[in-house]
Amino acid sequence: MRRKFIVGNWKMHKGPADADALADTLKRALAGRDAKVDVGVAPPFVSLSAVVSRLKHTGILVAAQNLHSEAQGAFTGEISGEMLRQVGVAYCLVGHSERRQFFGDTDAFVEKKVAACFRSGLLPILCVGETLAEREAGKEREVVTRQLTAAIGKLQADQVPSVTIAYEPVWAIGTGKTASPLQAQEMHATIRGWLESSFPAFVARSTRLQYGGSVKGSNAAELLKMPDIDGALVGGAALNAEEFLAIVEAANAA
Ligand code: 13P
Repeated sequence: MRRKFIVGNWKMHKGPADADALADTLKRALAGRDAKVDVGVAPPFVSLSAVVSRLKHTGILVAAQNLHSEAQGAFTGEISGEMLRQVGVAYCLVGHSERRQFFGDTDAFVEKKVAACFRSGLLPILCVGETLAEREAGKEREVVTRQLTAAIGKLQADQVPSVTIAYEPVWAIGTGKTASPLQAQEMHATIRGWLESSFPAFVARSTRLQYGGSVKGSNAAELLKMPDIDGALVGGAALNAEEFLAIVEAANAA
């Protein structure tokens, strides 16, 4: 009942012209496909307009990589959910580990950003995940549960399935070191268990959980076969159309 969902996070790559070219390649490749899988891309802010217009009526979803929690104001350099909505963006990443690590996104700020998504009609893709030190200390469940509780623990039950939760262990991001399918499944089961114990049963059944961290064409199938892995949030491999399409293909076959 949960459709697979593959999203490419382009991070700080691809200005408007390159982003438009990649979007166009994906559009052509995915045209007329049997839409068993939801596919999305998250270009940098300056490329959103070009990609939104290129992907209009294709069914390929467009996400922003971040937003500010306020609707407007004296926040130099920031972008609000309302502005993203005006550009035609449907989804927004929130709490990516790179934001938490390099730009001071705390659990409390992430909660406000999730609220800002709902206020402005964007669907959040909430990223959670432990660092290597936290995993080595055996704290991965505790950390992820804390991040979830802070970000979405107080939402109304019927809001939660609109949130996609991306489990991205920090030690697997950009390192080429993927979590094994069993490691990933274990954490996804923990997340689903947290949803089960925090909300009525329909929430855990219908909320999509993506895995992220060095996903590529060659390892996507075994990850996406796992019962609680409903998709992937793809970084590096999403910059290459062929690799990204291989991941979409693996999701189609899963
Ligand atoms: P990589 O796929 O490059 O490891 O990045 C994962 C990620 O951070 C997606 O948001």
